[in-house]
Amino acid sequence: MFIRKPSDIVSSEITSEEIYRQRRQFLRVGGALLGAAALPVWFSDDAAQAATPAASFGPSLGAIGKSKYSTGETQNSYEQITTYNNFYEFGIDKSDPAANAQTLRTRPWTVTLEGLVQKPRTLGIEDVLKLVPLEERIYRLRCVEGWSMVIPWVGFSLSALLKQVEPLGSAKYVEFVSQADPAQMPGVRSGVLDWPYTEGLRMDEAMHPLTLMAVGLYGRVLPNQNGAPIRLVVPWKYGFKSAKSIVRIRFVEREPRTAWVKAAPAEYGFYSNVNPAVDHPRWSQAKERRIGEFFKRATLPFNGYADQVAQLYSGMDLRRYF
Ligand code: MTE
Repeated sequence: MFIRKPSDIVSSEITSEEIYRQRRQFLRVGGALLGAAALPVWFSDDAAQAATPAASFGPSLGAIGKSKYSTGETQNSYEQITTYNNFYEFGIDKSDPAANAQTLRTRPWTVTLEGLVQKPRTLGIEDVLKLVPLEERIYRLRCVEGWSMVIPWVGFSLSALLKQVEPLGSAKYVEFVSQADPAQMPGVRSGVLDWPYTEGLRMDEAMHPLTLMAVGLYGRVLPNQNGAPIRLVVPWKYGFKSAKSIVRIRFVEREPRTAWVKAAPAEYGFYSNVNPAVDHPRWSQAKERRIGEFFKRATLPFNGYADQVAQLYSGMDLRRYF
């Protein structure tokens, strides 16, 4: 029997990313010759600028405040953000989540907070939405595969949710568990990862004000392919730390073994801070391609959030704790 290792799959993802780029370059050249209007919106750089979504893009979330943590960089378009996704529960191609995630049922939805806490609780998503006022946070997202986007999330700091259950002093880490229902998520029937998708943060990372629970995007309810109804966003770490469609948050004493660490420990570390100086074993992390742009740009330490988070790691050898 042929067993496809997740490490192989990620490598083929990289290949398909390159093929996608070559195709895009080909279309760009063709577009210049034929007239850019002939190109589909996805292949046009103008798409990144034409970022305002129509009201039909999903139900509104109501009043949303602005955040001091937002970047002023050009946002990727709604279409780019919702059609170029990683969500292995719905397939391994970038277009699979948008094509397949409609089967995910996001109501009723509960999030269970448990483990080393005073007051374990299971909260309905409606109650979670009422905890604190929602705000828009425009964050850079840097994927470990070498691409990036700028995404206007809507959400609130994870710390507001975690404080509800009064974590004990013995809780040193937080584990996040995604929904894994094979009936709704065709990818879960494959062995591509050890389901459910799990991620983890150290307690101080989880409590950091930049760490976001996102429930929306572009002022609208989060589309399924982006991790509805609630997902993590940790902007200074590679995108895979930002677990989607979360159902369980567990407070633990020891560093949790995450889905990607289990799949390929030499390639994916627990910390996964964006770090241009530490290569992935099979490719450089020095540069990234912003979706919608042609030329690569330099990747910044901690994805440009060093001023806010570098002190969390002072004294740590970031080559060892990658
Ligand atoms: N969460 C789950 N449950 N399953 C996944 O496959 N992919 C991760 C992360 N969260 C993933 C996940 C990766 S690799 C990235 S880059 C981001 O989600 C992508 O988020 P986006 O599709 O909203 O841009």
